[in-house]
Amino acid sequence: DGEVFRYYADGEWRASASGKSVAIVNPTTRQTQYRVQACTQEEVNKVMESAKVAQKAWARTPLWKRAELLHKAAAILKEHKAPIAECLVKEIAKPAKDAVSEVVRSGDLVSYTAEEGVRILGEGKLLVSDSFPGNERNKYCLSSKIPLGVVLAIPPFNYPVNLAVSKIGPALIAGNALVLKPPTQGAVAALHMVHCFHLAGFPKGLINCVTGKGSEIGDFLTMHPGVNCISFTGGDTGIAISKKAGMVPLQMELGGKDACIVLEDADLDLVAANIVKGGFSYSGQRCTAVKVVLIMESIADAVVQKVNAKLAKLKVGPPEDDSDITPVVTESSANFIEGLVMDAKEKGATFCQEYRREGNLIWPLLLDHVRPDMRIAWEEPFGPVLPVIRINSAEEGIHHCNASNFGLQGCIFTRDINKAILISDAMETGTVQINSAPARGPDHFPFQGLKDSGIGSQGITNSINMMTKVKSTVINLP
Ligand code: G3H
Repeated sequence: DGEVFRYYADGEWRASASGKSVAIVNPTTRQTQYRVQACTQEEVNKVMESAKVAQKAWARTPLWKRAELLHKAAAILKEHKAPIAECLVKEIAKPAKDAVSEVVRSGDLVSYTAEEGVRILGEGKLLVSDSFPGNERNKYCLSSKIPLGVVLAIPPFNYPVNLAVSKIGPALIAGNALVLKPPTQGAVAALHMVHCFHLAGFPKGLINCVTGKGSEIGDFLTMHPGVNCISFTGGDTGIAISKKAGMVPLQMELGGKDACIVLEDADLDLVAANIVKGGFSYSGQRCTAVKVVLIMESIADAVVQKVNAKLAKLKVGPPEDDSDITPVVTESSANFIEGLVMDAKEKGATFCQEYRREGNLIWPLLLDHVRPDMRIAWEEPFGPVLPVIRINSAEEGIHHCNASNFGLQGCIFTRDINKAILISDAMETGTVQINSAPARGPDHFPFQGLKDSGIGSQGITNSINMMTKVKSTVINLP
């Protein structure tokens, strides 16, 4: 019935006093794979207290020492890539190779964060007073960046390790303490990642990981007075959190409906390859996945044909076999995807493949001739199903993209760079990729969503800055 894993608090692995656990259901077998502790609110209170104490000492730890520990954790993380990847395979059905890449990418991210941190936090600013009218040169203002305190990190199921370290690394290098609440699916991979930080020798209480039911500790954590910053990646919950949270900086990366605008002069093979990679990798369960193709009518048939040929070659099956398309994370997610597909069918979309589902496994499906009255034109399936809308002008594509309540990324395919820049400027999204599918990485690039896709900007440098405050000391001369 699944091994029960302990939570991590004050440098120790603990069983919850609740005596209860939360089941993690393997998306492929649909059986309980693991269990994690159902932490109580009282346990959350204790974690917050120890994090607060540990943070004070950590903030006084020299920057180079903080960086050294992060480099050590990064190396240990990479050494543990196989067992962590195995958890990702079992908990979230991530294809085996991608699961290993997620851990390696995470180690690289932590190392890069340590390097970036010593550079940007090692710099301060000096201002002199006489540049402002009426002042003599008798005031010197020294400013530098100081930590916020305790950072609450809430990553999503699709990158439980990578989107945890993208919060943990910047928080720690900047001198903050960390409370991690991993997603239920992916919690064991996250606990194993935390174990790597434990082995690196970080001080007790600095990093904590609480597990449990959102209904029991979710709001309690996000509204906790001990939290000084929230970094969240996920869905609509982020909007609810931002309404309830206190006066603390928020970093939110939420959903996306990334549009792929294809113009007549595009390299059609490049387009097809990117639609398949962008729309179907990890079965479409990426916030940056291509979620709607907006293609000029004159080239649509040719591209649809090329995409279909590639989809036919994708391997569909369990993640252990390194299949390209694996079961989606939960049964309710599969049901939601099916709902969107059926709505499009009733309203007359053309199915390029037969719709097929077994349990949580949904075969890749391209839906052609999708129209704006279909839900799938606007909603995010988070699955291996992709709508194609035929357009007659670039403006039509831009209009559809901007009519979405999301604004994460988008992409344009054309050989005309001038046109591409103009379209990019017109698209209301945080990032636009020219001639490639949307993607968050490389992980030091800025990453941000507009509208319902989030607030704040991520990427290593932006996250470090976001998890600090400016502190000034003014020297007044007689
Ligand atoms: O799911 C949201 C992630 O931030 C997307 O990251 O572009 O590396 O897949 P990715």
